[in-house]
Amino acid sequence: MRLFDTHAHLLDRRFDGDRQALIEALPGLGVVGVIECGTSVDSSRKAAALAARAGYIYAAAGIHPHDAAEAPGDYIQQIEAIASRQKVVAIGEIGLDYHYDFSPRDVQKKVLEDQLALAEKLKLPVALHMREATQDMLAILQEHKGLRGVLHCFSGSAETALQCVDMGFCISFTGTVTFDGARKTIEAVQAVPLQSIMAETDCPYLAPEPKRGERNDPANVRYVLEKLALIKGVSFDEMCGINIQNAKGLYAI
Ligand code: NI
Repeated sequence: MRLFDTHAHLLDRRFDGDRQALIEALPGLGVVGVIECGTSVDSSRKAAALAARAGYIYAAAGIHPHDAAEAPGDYIQQIEAIASRQKVVAIGEIGLDYHYDFSPRDVQKKVLEDQLALAEKLKLPVALHMREATQDMLAILQEHKGLRGVLHCFSGSAETALQCVDMGFCISFTGTVTFDGARKTIEAVQAVPLQSIMAETDCPYLAPEPKRGERNDPANVRYVLEKLALIKGVSFDEMCGINIQNAKGLYAI
C-alpha cells in the first residue's frame, strides 16, 4: 500500500498521548506521505518543526478561518517566515467558514485574501477550507487567477467542484465520502477528473467507515482511497498512485 494523507492535524491535542509512537508506526502501515496543516501561527511553526524531523511529513502554514480573529497583527510576516522553511510546501489551511462563523466574515475574507497574496508572492499552492461559503470563495479565487491549490474536505456540489477544477484547483475528499447519505459528495467525486482528485483524512476528525466515531489518523486514508477507487471505477492501487502523483505534483514534492 502507498497511502498519502494530503491533509492532517497530527498536532491536535487528541494525539498528545501517543503522537511520537504513531508517527513512527505510520510508515509500517503503508503511509508514504502526510501534509500536516497549520491553523494558526503557533501550530504552523510546530507543523514545520514536525516536518523537519519526520521524513515523510510535509507542512502547510496558514491561519484557519476559525482562528482569523485571533491572528496577531504581524501574522503575514510570521507565516511568511515559516513558509520559507524546508518542507513547508503550501499556505494552509486557509479559507472561509460560514457554518460556524467563529470569526466575523469580513475578518475571514481579509485574512484569506492576505494569505492568497502571500501564496502568490512565494509561488506556493494553497490548501483551502470552504464551508457554506461557495459564492464568496469563488469570487475571491476569480481575483487570483494563476494560483494553484486544493479545496480540502470538499462538501460542495458537483457543479461547484467543476468550477474549482476549471480554475486549476484540485478537489480533496475525506471520510465523509464513506458515510451513509453521502450522495452529494459521491456526485462530486464522479464529476472531478482523476488528475484533479486527492484523498485526505483531516484527522483527528472525520474517521471514515468502518472507523467512524473513532479518533482518525493518516493510515485511515486507505478507506477514503478505497471508496474513491470504487466510485471512479479504478483499482485501489491505481487510486493510491493517482493520489500520490496529484499530491506530489501540487506540492512540488
Ligand atoms: Ni483541516
